[in-house]
Amino acid sequence: MLRFWPRSLASQTALVLLLGLALVQGAGLTIHALDRLDLQRLAQVREVSARIMGLYRQMAAAPPQERDYDLGEGWLPPGYVATVSQNPKTPTLEVAQPWMQRLVVVNLSMAPLPPQLRPREVRIFGGVEEGRIMVSLALPARAWLNVEARIDPPRPWHSPSFLYAFLAMTLAAALLSLWAVRRLTEPVRTLAAAAEALGRDVNAPPLPETGPTEVRTAAAAFNLMADRIRRFVKDRTELLTAIGHDLRTPITRMKLRTEFIDDDETRRKMLADLDDLEAMVSATLAFGRDAATSEPVASLDLAELLQTIVDETADTHPDKPDHVSYNGPSHLTITARLLSLKRALANLVNNAMAYGGSAHVHLIPPDPHAEPPVLTIEVIDSGPGIPVDQLDRVFEPFHRLEVSRNRETGGTGLGLSIARNIFRAHGGDVVLVNRRADGQPGGGAKAVVTLPA
Ligand SMILES: Nc1ncnc2c1ncn2[C@@H]1O[C@H](COP(=O)(O)OP(=O)(O)OP(=O)(O)O)[C@@H](O)[C@H]1O
Ligand SMILES: [Mg+2]
Repeated sequence: MLRFWPRSLASQTALVLLLGLALVQGAGLTIHALDRLDLQRLAQVREVSARIMGLYRQMAAAPPQERDYDLGEGWLPPGYVATVSQNPKTPTLEVAQPWMQRLVVVNLSMAPLPPQLRPREVRIFGGVEEGRIMVSLALPARAWLNVEARIDPPRPWHSPSFLYAFLAMTLAAALLSLWAVRRLTEPVRTLAAAAEALGRDVNAPPLPETGPTEVRTAAAAFNLMADRIRRFVKDRTELLTAIGHDLRTPITRMKLRTEFIDDDETRRKMLADLDDLEAMVSATLAFGRDAATSEPVASLDLAELLQTIVDETADTHPDKPDHVSYNGPSHLTITARLLSLKRALANLVNNAMAYGGSAHVHLIPPDPHAEPPVLTIEVIDSGPGIPVDQLDRVFEPFHRLEVSRNRETGGTGLGLSIARNIFRAHGGDVVLVNRRADGQPGGGAKAVVTLPA
């Protein structure tokens, strides 16, 4: 039973409404039909009774010797058989049910007859279910009138057009409910789509605040929330850049003062540290600048982008041509921000080259049956891998495994946090795993990027 229970709110509501409608319509039709059957039975019994009494009056008024003759004339209505006999005719039908007896007697007694002509005894057989009724009435002067009449089976509705009209009405009501349900659940779908869009892009356009009051209120609340998130992100980024900016002057001052240190070794170390500090501040400032400039989302070919990154990396390492490769479809279109995505992916490839000695990029297209569709990019190297307890920490800003912030061996340690930021802003994510499942060093690392297709 539960297997047929639909999942979506719209289908569930529609199903409940349609079942309710079918129930109400079915009950209405049954009540109507039962009432009509009852009414028809009454009308038929009344008509039959009136005819029988007509016959009876004629027989009772006629002289006894003419009675047989009268009935042979064939003036009886169709479906009626009447005989006059000395004794009541032996019935072929069961004795009528009490309610039928009462009904017939009441209707018979409604006929206008002088009291001395009224039948002294009445026997009633058959009924509506049998389709026939047999009434024997005692005539004056010891004779009996036996009348048998057909009772047509009652029909629950009079004409087929009633059924058609009923079906049309039901269909109209069903269509109306389906439309109403769609209309009711549409705002939920719109809100879900908007939330999804906001997850991919904080600067997604606001929801239109139109329509019924509830929809407008929900849209306004959603827009307000999106606005607060945007402001929060902006404030944080501005704070970061402000700090970075203000640190520059003291660093420059310190560099100047370092020149006055006499000890060569100490001076060299101080200057190196200050250079590192300066690089970190510059990276922070660059990050803040990037975050502030909101690049528009557009259609782009991810396969071509990856091939470009791989080609560019190969160009900068002419000594190791077969250490860089791309594997995957030659075209795959997605909607994303080209420059940010390129920076994020390039950092993964550069990390693989710098710390793993090679970078093999795999693009795995989304599984068409998966819901929602997600594509995967893997950047695989053959370096030492990353200690298990560091797999997540390397995403922290300025966290590096190599302690020396040497420009030659690496950067400032901001690359992975920026990359994760970018992928998450696209509604995706990135994780680092070791290719060796036993957690031992060696075997290389693998960066796994997931992006909505
Ligand atoms: N494929 C890898 N294999 C081994 N270690 C890695 C790998 N990728 C990253 N790491 C470690 O994670 C650290 C952080 O990487 P991240 O890209 O954030 O900074 P970075 O490369 O040092 O500097 P930059 O900001 O220039 O990218 C690196 O310093 C390195 O120690
Ligand atoms: Mg890096």
